[in-house]
Amino acid sequence: MAEASIQLTGTKQEKYEQLLPIIHSLVVGESDLIANLANVTAALKQGFDFFWVGFYLVKEDELVLGPFQGPIACTRIKKGRGVCGAAWQQKQTLLVPNVDEFPGHIACSSDSKSEIVVPLLKNGAIFAVLDVDSNQFNDFDNIDEQYLNKLCVWLSDIL
Ligand code: SME
Repeated sequence: MAEASIQLTGTKQEKYEQLLPIIHSLVVGESDLIANLANVTAALKQGFDFFWVGFYLVKEDELVLGPFQGPIACTRIKKGRGVCGAAWQQKQTLLVPNVDEFPGHIACSSDSKSEIVVPLLKNGAIFAVLDVDSNQFNDFDNIDEQYLNKLCVWLSDIL
């Protein structure tokens, strides 16, 4: 098992470079989806102290709340609704610098100001999305997009 305390140093890019192998070591060899997603959210929360980080899982025509770290969140999101439902429908990562300007944004917390949602695909179908929220505007950039995409691509492969 990896070291329980995660302390990252350097630039954001350097922090992701340190964190991704830690996450890899946490999930590799474990087949349980929920256990793995739970540790991924905990590692992201510990590493970056994100305001909210978690997964929504595709169940029939809705996204249902999965493992997360942060304030209580809405449990079900319809396809096309909010940032998560839009990322699912459009099958693409959505980076939202100001959630107030995103039509239909679902405010689970009024403190959430910016957000990034990354889909996880298996055999061309989305089975989950990773949602990360910040309580600051413009808190995510192409570095987050690049590394969270990379994380979700290999998570999709091994989960
Ligand atoms: N803001 C999201 C809903 C999920 S919470 O942020 C945890 C959305 O608009 O889809």
